[in-house]
Amino acid sequence: MLNIAILISGRGSNMENILKSVKKNKIPVNPAVVISNKPDAKGLKIAQKLGVKTEIVESDGLKGGNWEYDSKLVSILEKYKVTPQNGLICLAGFMRILSPEFIKHYKGRILNIHPAILPSFPGLHSQKQALEYGVKYTGCTVHFVDEGIDTGPIILQSVVKVKDDDTEETLAKRILKQEHKIYPKAVKLFANGKIKIVGRKPILS
Ligand code: GAR
Repeated sequence: MLNIAILISGRGSNMENILKSVKKNKIPVNPAVVISNKPDAKGLKIAQKLGVKTEIVESDGLKGGNWEYDSKLVSILEKYKVTPQNGLICLAGFMRILSPEFIKHYKGRILNIHPAILPSFPGLHSQKQALEYGVKYTGCTVHFVDEGIDTGPIILQSVVKVKDDDTEETLAKRILKQEHKIYPKAVKLFANGKIKIVGRKPILS
C-alpha cells in the first residue's frame, strides 16, 4: 500500500480531513507520518489523537529551497518508508519552499493544495491577492509540485464565488471548505493509479 506523509506548518485542517477519510477506509493508503517544520503546529496534536506518528524537523533560521534542511526531511521520510517507489508526500499548509534536489528525488510524488485557481495568485496570501485584484471567482487547486512556485501540473480545482462584502477571512473559510473536498479526492485518485501525466497535463480516469 502507498505510504503517505503529510507535511504541515500550522492548523492542519487539510491534514485532519485527509486522515479522517483514510481512517474511514475511503482512501487506500497507509498514513505513515505527519511532519511539521514548526514545533507548535496545532496539527501535530490532531494527528497524534488520530493515532498517526508525528515528527518535527525545525526550519527556523534555514532558508527555504535548501537541501541542508530537505535532506533531513528525506531521512525522516525514509524512516517511515515513504520512498520514491511507494510513497506520496502531501503538502498541507506546509509554508516552505522545497529544494530542486528534494523535488527531483520524489518526482511525481508530491502534491500540494493552494487556495486559488492556479495559475492565478500563486505564493502567499492568495485570498488577499484575489480580493485586491477584484476577481469574481476564485477557489483552490490540488497540483503536483515541480521546481516552480505553485506551477506544477493541475489535478483538481474547485471554484468559489467572491462576494462583494467578503473579507480575507470569510473568503478563506469558503475556499477551505472546497479544499477539504478536493484534496482527499486527489489523494484517492493518485492512490488508485488514476492519474496519468501526458506532457504537463494530468489525465484522470
Ligand atoms: C490552506 O488554506 C492551504 O491551501 C494554504 O494554507 C492553508 C493551510 O490550512 N496553503 C498555502 O497557502 C500554500 N501556498 P490547514 O493547515 O488548515 O490545512
